Amino acid sequence: MALLRTPVCDLLGIRVPILLAGMAAGPCTPELVAAVSRAGGLGVFGATGMTAAAVAADVARARELGATRIGVNVQITRPNTPRTDPGTLAVALADVRRALGLPTTPGPPLPAPVPATARDLVAAALDAGATVVTTGLGDPAEIRDLADTYGVPVLAMVATSAEAVRACGSGAHAIIAQGAEAGGHRASFEIPTDGRVPLVGTLALVPQVVDAVDVPVIASGGIMDGRGLAAALALGAQAVSLGTRFLLATESAAPDIYRVSLPHLPETATIVTDAVTGRPARWVRNTIIERLVDGPGHLGWGPQRRALEDIRAAAIAQGIPEYLPMLAGQGAGMAREQDAADIVAEIATEAEGIIDRLAGRGR
Ligand SMILES: Cc1cc2nc3c(=O)[nH]c(=O)nc-3n(C[C@H](O)[C@H](O)[C@H](O)COP(=O)(O)O)c2cc1C
Repeated sequence: MALLRTPVCDLLGIRVPILLAGMAAGPCTPELVAAVSRAGGLGVFGATGMTAAAVAADVARARELGATRIGVNVQITRPNTPRTDPGTLAVALADVRRALGLPTTPGPPLPAPVPATARDLVAAALDAGATVVTTGLGDPAEIRDLADTYGVPVLAMVATSAEAVRACGSGAHAIIAQGAEAGGHRASFEIPTDGRVPLVGTLALVPQVVDAVDVPVIASGGIMDGRGLAAALALGAQAVSLGTRFLLATESAAPDIYRVSLPHLPETATIVTDAVTGRPARWVRNTIIERLVDGPGHLGWGPQRRALEDIRAAAIAQGIPEYLPMLAGQGAGMAREQDAADIVAEIATEAEGIIDRLAGRGR
């Protein structure tokens, strides 16, 4: 893999410039993180929503499984203003709730669990042996001192060059430039009041971020294979961070519905909306997403997610893809079930072949 080795590989202690994007709420199991790291890339946990103890246990397990380089991702968020109330939201979703056998009117709100802070999660992960911190959705200033204490690099995910410059001012050691194709939440630090965030594609974003900062840039969004890795390197990125491609890895804990749904999706199958969690994210367009997009708005980051929890659980239990909110990128149709180590090797080998071919060395 000598052709692919870049300075950021040395910063992260990896052999292959491929990162598993930290994905909250399940997919990034210790088995997946460890498999990517053992294959020479960097496995990253998505810690948002977990307890500090659970994150520490997962990092420890990945180490037991042979990972020496382990990342932890946190989403840096603040509460935002609700646009509707639980009763109005339930009315908008009444037919979905009925179809899933759920009560159409919500019960009294459950006491909201106190979520672990980003700092708590990062501290627990670093204490357990994580070697890299990545951030999304906000300025990494909040956790920078913790990373410094442990002597590990901070990779800040951004959606614009301005955010990249700001993150560098906060001490980021590398930038993950997240293009509009990306699955999951938009990395944008601040959300305009109309919910419309910048949607700059990876091809346009990466070179402009590379030109704007003096630290290594990692490309993210729509990169599904060796063609994407070779293209990202050509744009000046030093590595890639992939979410959607790893969702279907054998070791991923994404619900089976993802495995059934993703490989058949056309590139037009996703949509960015803040209606599902209170912050803009790219979702597979299905019945529940359409209902929410056309609905009354969200209850704010945190409450909105909790309000949909029973729908999510019932859709998974009953195996109904139309009612499960599924985060995925525009490249979803290129994902397929495969061991994570094979994904890393296949992408790296394909990229090397392309680079050789373009250099006239023919393979
Ligand atoms: C299911 C899913 C969950 C995600 N969760 C997170 C997360 O917890 N934190 C984060 O910073 N980014 C998250 N992302 C975004 C990824 O970091 C990354 O930007 C994106 O997956 C790259 O685009 P791709 O999906 O086309 O590879 C998530 C993406 C997906 C698909």
